[in-house]
This record gives sequence, C-alpha cells and structure tokens, in this order.
Amino acid sequence: MPVDPLALLRRFGSPLYVYDLALVRARAQALRACISYRPFQPLYAIKANPCPAVVRAIVGEGYGIDAVSPGEVALALRLGLPPALVLYTENNMTDAEQAEALRQGVLVNCGSLDRLDRLCRAGAPSASVRVNPDVGAGAHEKICTAGPRSKFGVHHREIDHVLAIERATGVPVVGCHMHIGSGFLDADAFVQAMQVVIAVAERMPNLRFVDFGGGIGIPYRSGERPMDLAALGRAASALMESFAARYAAAHGGRRLELRLEPGRFLVAEAGTLYATVTSVKRNPDGPEGRGRIYVGTDTGFNHLIRPCLYDAYHRIDNVSRPQAAPTAVDVVGNICESGDVFARDRVLPLPEPGDVLALRDAGAYGMAMASTYNTRPLPAEVVIDGDEVRVARARQGIDDLLAAYVW
Ligand code: LLP
Repeated sequence: MPVDPLALLRRFGSPLYVYDLALVRARAQALRACISYRPFQPLYAIKANPCPAVVRAIVGEGYGIDAVSPGEVALALRLGLPPALVLYTENNMTDAEQAEALRQGVLVNCGSLDRLDRLCRAGAPSASVRVNPDVGAGAHEKICTAGPRSKFGVHHREIDHVLAIERATGVPVVGCHMHIGSGFLDADAFVQAMQVVIAVAERMPNLRFVDFGGGIGIPYRSGERPMDLAALGRAASALMESFAARYAAAHGGRRLELRLEPGRFLVAEAGTLYATVTSVKRNPDGPEGRGRIYVGTDTGFNHLIRPCLYDAYHRIDNVSRPQAAPTAVDVVGNICESGDVFARDRVLPLPEPGDVLALRDAGAYGMAMASTYNTRPLPAEVVIDGDEVRVARARQGIDDLLAAYVW
C-alpha cells in the first residue's frame, strides 16, 4: 500500500528523509543479476547511505561492505558482517587506523605505495591495492576519482613497485581494485578502465579477487536514460571470464573472484527528502525581467548538499498541491548563504506556505553528507518496509547538538 507522505510528516515531523527498502532490495537484486561471472561478490559502498536499516536490507541480498573509514568498518562489524566481507579502501589512513584495521581483521585496500609498504611490514596477513588506471569518469569533476588529477590509487605504471613490496615483505597482495568515479550513465570509460586494471592484475601473482569499484549512475533528470545494466554486466563478465581463464592457467587453477562496489545505484532512487514550504516570496519585476519567485523551505544544504556542491539536479514535486498552476520558481533553503539553492527556474505547481515538497533521489549522499551548519539539527530518517513504517534514526534535538560542547 503506498504510504501517504503528508501523513508521514504529520507523524514524524519535517524535514524528513524516507527510504523505501523494497526499491533498495530490487536494485540490489538487479545488479547481482546482471553479472553472469562466478564467483561474484558485490560490496555496498556504505558511504552512500550508512543508515543501518538500509545497510541491513542490502546485506540481506548477499552483499559485503566497501568501507573507507574506521567508522564505516565499525558500523559494518556491528551489523554482524564477517571481517572477510568488509574491504577497507583506505585514503590517507593513519598508523593508528591501520593498527585498528589489523586488529579487526579486515583487508586493507591501499591507495599508495608507502601505505602498502607500512601495512605489509606491520604484520598484515594480506593486502589489496587500489590502482589508478588513468581513466576517470563521473558526473562532476569533484567526483571523478581516477586519472592524472586524482589523489586516489597507485598509478598503473607503478605496478613494479607493488610487486617489489610484495616480494620484499612476503605479504600476498590478494586484491586488485579500481574506482574511477561516480555517477556515470555510460559504461565506455568504465570498461576501458577495467582493461587497464586487468593488464595490471595479470602481473600480480597472488590475487584472489579483482574489484572494479562502483560509480553506476542513476537518471536524476526525467528523460535521462538509465545505465544499460545488462550491457555493462555482459562486458564486465566477458572481460573477467577470459582474464580469469588465463590467470587460472598460469596460477595452478586459482579461480579469481569478481567484485563490484556500487553505492548510489542501490540507494539513491529509494530516498526522498520531504520538506515544508515556509515562505513564498515574489520579487518585483525589474530591468532583467520578471521578478523571481523564491520558495523557501525548512531544510537546506545542511541536509542535502549535492545541488550546492556539484550543481546536482534533484527532481522536486509539490505533493500537497499537484494541481496548482505550473510556475517557474527558485527552491531555496533556510541556511544563511546565497548558495543555499536546491533549484533555479524550476517549473512546479506553485507552492503555498505549508505545502510539502519532495526532493527525489536523495537516498545516496543525502543524509550521509548532512551537517549541523547554522547549528541546525539533523533530520530524522524513516524506512518503509512493506506495510511497516519505522524510524531508523531519531531526529536530532537542539539539546543533543549543544550537548557536545564543553560548557
Ligand atoms: N568505492 C569507492 C572506493 C568509492 O570511493 C565510492 C564512492 C564508491 C565505491 C561508490 O560510488 P558510487 O557507486 O556511489 O558512485 N558525494 C558524491 C559521490 C562521491 C562518491 C565517492 N566515492 C555525490 O553526491 O554524488
């Protein structure tokens, strides 16, 4: 039964993040199904949405976890994942963080030669390496995570140094990993990068798996075409199939595992940020034309920063008044910065104060990137799981926020 968002807001307050777990599970199943290569172990990039209720739904579909910080590792282990299903892709980790990861028994995926060397010398039973294939992709420069301008990974032409560390320390490098960027809808660069990584992997003697990372985008704009998942799955499976056969022949029949680590694809579309309109203001017409109409809301870039940070587009619906006259408006937040704009010149059924707006596709990198800027508390998170609706994270109160200070 569809859940009435207005009833949800009356019950749980505004603004509110709501996640539909049925859609999360459907995406998790679709991604699994597109890969025919076996063994295949998908990991969920938990940074996209670490809400335990959401993570549990994905883990329930047989996913492991791609973690990038001690906090994400701790969250995965607390959810009961065995350490073998957690890959810790480090970035500028400290020695203390490394020691903690070794104690926890998770495999560390190193993004630099010096970290690989220190990990191997610190007694790690095995290691993994993130390769920069020098091919990047992504919906915005800030989320392209490979290529010459990227801080991530060991450049693919540095592989001899990886092999030297492996020989010198005797620690097997069991994983060869890439993650080239986020939010792409076209598989060309992805497949090109896979070929570079396979050429690197071919030279690594102790591999157990190859991980092609995440990055699969979703159609944020109406009319945008989703990624052709079937074609992507066929390409990745075929590349891996022929490589794995060569690898097995050269390494005593060892069959490599294939890994992918999507974040956004699994959770973005399942999430909506509901907000309430606080004010509708029309500026007078001037020399530049019609005065702009500002639709103010009770949320802002403190709760959804993607439009502000990446010029990202999120569809917005007026759920209270879908029949009102379509009007071009600027939808803005309540943060004291001019950049606190969700959308400019967006045609919406003209809202009135009190209306509820739905900011769509906010399940990935929404609440996960929220802050308490302007000393505004974090919103609540609610999950819809079939007929059940439950709070997954309580709304933060101003007292909770102030309690962190030393008074
Ligand atoms: N693996 C690694 C090592 C990553 O760093 C990431 C994302 C992923 C997997 C998952 O990527 P996905 O499938 O979600 O594209 N805040 C940005 C996205 C940053 C992604 C960073 N890394 C946004 O809001 O678009």
